[in-house]
Amino acid sequence: DRQRTFAMIKPDAYTNIGKIIDAIYLNGFKISKLKMSRFTPATAGVFYGEHKGKPFFPNLQQFITSDVVVGMELVAENAIDKWRQLIGPTNTAVAKTDAPDSLRAYFGTDGTKNAVHGSDSNGSVKKETAFWFEGNPSDRPMKTT
Ligand code: CMP
Repeated sequence: DRQRTFAMIKPDAYTNIGKIIDAIYLNGFKISKLKMSRFTPATAGVFYGEHKGKPFFPNLQQFITSDVVVGMELVAENAIDKWRQLIGPTNTAVAKTDAPDSLRAYFGTDGTKNAVHGSDSNGSVKKETAFWFEGNPSDRPMKTT
């Protein structure tokens, strides 16, 4: 069925936005919403609430607040799984060996700096899309220095 997912280009990859958007359209997705903004430590804690308290959370919070990110709502048949297939395994090193044509293999750096995010369920799609497009209180002008 035609489905929506929430996708995000992370701080390590937003300068590759052109190539990533090319890959999105070449793989049959449509972009229905797109917004560039930033996380603060507090909003990162809301978005990644399920990871709060995990050992990697401090690194994730530091990384995700380090620069701008681009959140998108994507539409396609089976969009949630299709997008997770295109981005590849969470850990970039695993992506490079197991899914060399994935976006994380191309644009990621390591286990934390993995270029892109994709919702893992319908519930996450609703929560993350609403947060990014309606509820993100950290919206503010980009620093472009
Ligand atoms: P993402 O799919 O956005 O979801 C949680 C993020 O936490 C993940 O991508 C990585 O950026 C980061 N992360 C760092 N270490 C881990 C880990 N061991 N397991 C899962 N996610 C991790």
